Amino acid sequence: MNESKPDITGESDIVQLLTMFYQRVLADERLARFFSGIDMQAHLPRIAAFWSGLLFNTGGFSGNVMNVHTHIHHQYTLSAADFARWLELFNDEVDRNFAGFRADEIKSRARSIAGVMSFRITGQV
Ligand code: HEM
Repeated sequence: MNESKPDITGESDIVQLLTMFYQRVLADERLARFFSGIDMQAHLPRIAAFWSGLLFNTGGFSGNVMNVHTHIHHQYTLSAADFARWLELFNDEVDRNFAGFRADEIKSRARSIAGVMSFRITGQV
C-alpha cells in the first residue's frame, strides 16, 4: 500500500515531516495546550537536529530532551495518554508521507523514546 511513498533520505525530509506533525499537534485537543507560548518556528530546527542526529548521525543537537519534558511536566502535568497521543500522531504523519527503512526506524525510535519518557515522567507507559 505504501510502495509509492519515498523513504526519509535527509534533513529536509525530517523538516517536512516535523512541520506537518507539529501542525497537527498544535491543532490537537489533547496536546495543543502544552505548546502555548512556544514559538515552534524557532524550535523546529532544534527538533530537526535531534532527529537528524538519531537517523543520520549528524551532530548539531546538544540538549537534554528528558529535562525539557520534565520541566513541561512540572508546569502542566503530563500523562501516559498524552505520550500515547503524541506517538499516534507522529506515526500517522510518518505513514502518510514516507515508507521504508528510515521511516520504520524513526517510528521505532519515537516509540522507544516516548515509552522511556512516559515511564520516567508519569510512571506509566
Ligand atoms: C506528551 C508528549 C510530548 C509533549 C506534550 C511535548 C512537548 C514539547 C514542548 C512544549 C517542547 C518545547 C519545550 C521548550 O523548549 O520550552 C518540546 C521540545 C522537544 N521535544 Fe517534545 N513533547 C512530547 C514528546 C516528545 C517525544 C516523545 C520526543 C522524542 C521522541 C520529543 C522531542 C522533543 C525535542 C527533541 C524537543 C526540543 C528540545 C530542545 O530544544 O532542547 N518530544 N516538546
